[in-house]
Amino acid sequence: MSNSNPIGIFDSGIGGTSILKEIISLLPNENTVYLSDSKNAPYGDKNKDSILNLSVKNTELLIEKGCKIIVVACNTATTNTISYLRENYDIPFIGIEPAIKPAALKTKTNCIGILATKGTLSSALFSKTSEIFASNVKIIEQVGTGLVELIESGKLNSKEMTQILKTHMEPMIQNNIDYLVLGCTHYPYLIPQIRNIIGSNVQIIDSGLAVAKQTQNILSTFDLLNFEKEIGAHQFFINTNPKVLKKILLNIEEDYSVEKLEF
Ligand code: DGL
Repeated sequence: MSNSNPIGIFDSGIGGTSILKEIISLLPNENTVYLSDSKNAPYGDKNKDSILNLSVKNTELLIEKGCKIIVVACNTATTNTISYLRENYDIPFIGIEPAIKPAALKTKTNCIGILATKGTLSSALFSKTSEIFASNVKIIEQVGTGLVELIESGKLNSKEMTQILKTHMEPMIQNNIDYLVLGCTHYPYLIPQIRNIIGSNVQIIDSGLAVAKQTQNILSTFDLLNFEKEIGAHQFFINTNPKVLKKILLNIEEDYSVEKLEF
């Protein structure tokens, strides 16, 4: 494996680009391959076996493309499959799961909110983490029903989105949360709208930067950092119409080309 081989990143759709953005900004010389499995989004309503099969399919495609490390840029896939992937593939994996620990440590109102998919909130890993780190804190768990579907269909800033977000935030506001953990990589794109609804006193926790730092640490541990001087090249593959992915990538401020691929 050469150090210039790419970092592989996959998500159920376009949300993982919120992680990719942090990786590109922290590790500008790294090459990357991004898989957007939008055809199968959302993963959040699927059962564990289906999420596992999809994660295996994405992993094998990234390995085929020569990736040196895989970032599972999806909370739902991480919380349901990361131990299986680590046990069965001889490549390092980085995952993302809701950042309950910092929220539970810092809360003053003793009440925190978690917005995530049904698949993440019902996972054994999520229950274990909340038990270990937040047993003395009240957690308002909210399934983000409808949010991923609207983002995937290009309706990020629609009236429908505002309406759904208001409904999802209501129990959080009523319970006086002071930290809101975003437990899905699609949700950072909703921060401006969430902020309008919950006001400025609630801290929003998004783990994108932490995941990028962990990727850097693990690459360094395995002696896999790319020391080439050139800026990295980025490849994008999607199994539906590339339009929405291309649009969201403008947040990384480049006109990337996206290839449609059957996978
Ligand atoms: N981005 C995925 C996550 O972090 C979205 C899950 C879904 O497809 O429902 O969980």
